[in-house]
Amino acid sequence: MNILIIGNGGREHAFAWKIRQSNSCGNLFVAPGNAGTHTMAVNVPIAVDDFHSIGEFCLEKQIGLVVVGPEAPLVNGIRDYFESKPRLKNILLIGPGKAGAQLEGSKDFSKQFMIRHGIPTAKARTFHPHEVTEAHHYLDTCQPPLVLKADGLAAGKGVIITEDREEAKAIIREMLVDKKFGEASSKVLVEEFLKGIEVSVFVLTDGKDYVILPEAKDYKRIGVGDTGPNTGGMGAVSPVYFADEVFLKKVEERIVKPTINGLRKENIDYRGFIFIGLMNCSGEPFVIEYNARMGDPETQAVLPRIKNDLVELLKATASGSLGNLKIEKDARYATTIVMVSKGYPGNYDKGKIIKGLETSSDVNVFHAGTKTVEGKIVTDGGRVLAITGMGNDLQTAREKGYAGVAKLSWEGVYFRTDIGLDLLSLQNEAKSG
Ligand code: AMP
Ligand code: GLY
Repeated sequence: MNILIIGNGGREHAFAWKIRQSNSCGNLFVAPGNAGTHTMAVNVPIAVDDFHSIGEFCLEKQIGLVVVGPEAPLVNGIRDYFESKPRLKNILLIGPGKAGAQLEGSKDFSKQFMIRHGIPTAKARTFHPHEVTEAHHYLDTCQPPLVLKADGLAAGKGVIITEDREEAKAIIREMLVDKKFGEASSKVLVEEFLKGIEVSVFVLTDGKDYVILPEAKDYKRIGVGDTGPNTGGMGAVSPVYFADEVFLKKVEERIVKPTINGLRKENIDYRGFIFIGLMNCSGEPFVIEYNARMGDPETQAVLPRIKNDLVELLKATASGSLGNLKIEKDARYATTIVMVSKGYPGNYDKGKIIKGLETSSDVNVFHAGTKTVEGKIVTDGGRVLAITGMGNDLQTAREKGYAGVAKLSWEGVYFRTDIGLDLLSLQNEAKSG
């Protein structure tokens, strides 16, 4: 089967790597891809939101399966576009339509969805532009830390957490009235602060049945010790020791099943990934957010831990025949470290030559922001590479991952040195305590 992956990040390189291993994979294309996907697939210069060109390309190359990596084309209706065209509607596609993608595209929708279906989540109230005074009064009654969330997609910047009530009031005004995040902040949620430790659970569903993939923890802040501004993600670890059988059973019964049943009850035909961001509050799972896709860099830690043929899983998902397929997990640990350009998540330079890529090592080097210029691979984004090391325990996986990182460099390279370290300490404490 010919397959097209949409996107250009480390997540899409990891998809390409895993899909390539399948006997069912014929010609593999990535639009637009990066220098990493170029080594295992054909990169196609089509933008992720150019549905017309994507559709024409699928017909020309007889694509049987489209895997949508990022959220924007899903929220903008790539599935709806394919379903509306007689020549495209039989092509299998991974990712929900516009209706399902609202789980990610609108925090107000997802909050109301969780309330309708009794799914544990932080309490919240939604405010509109004419309700700034009400929002200010409401903030007066809330106990800090105060959590403000823009309703729509805001490139990971739409969540603000502050101890300072006056700052929260100013921000909510900026969001609602000055449209700090454009349309994305035309509604704002004020949410209860959940205290705990985060973990993400990934579900693949055909709308009726589902499989739960290995869980992961990501590291969103730029600085060591979770300091500084938020990024797209600086690293990931899988498995997460506290997501044990008991915890995951709670997640499945209280969150996964009601989510999938809720989508069915609301007549939303959801075929794709659901990424559930959770807070573990003293052993009880609460949903922080849903995403309608896989995470980046979580995918780079999760896919190496799945033994199944990914194309078979994806085909079953898209065609509604997931039935009783089971996930076979690799028991090993994966640690993914993201290497970024100097200045990220602010302004950064591009075009720096990446050294060490030809050195052999036993890690996965997934490319994110890279491209080939005159035969040389250079940096072409904020997040440049994601390195995944595997090992029988977290310590070994970390050491392997960082040994892989040490072989790679460019001018101004930066990475966090503490990916997985918090889990390692907590895990050791739990063992000794
Ligand atoms: P989100 O964009 O919804 O994933 O939020 C970004 C980050 O903000 C999350 O990964 C959490 O670390 C934090 N966060 C969001 N909502 C809450 C909450 N209700 N309580 C505590 N932390 C939160
Ligand atoms: N790493 C977080 C995300 O993909 O949303």
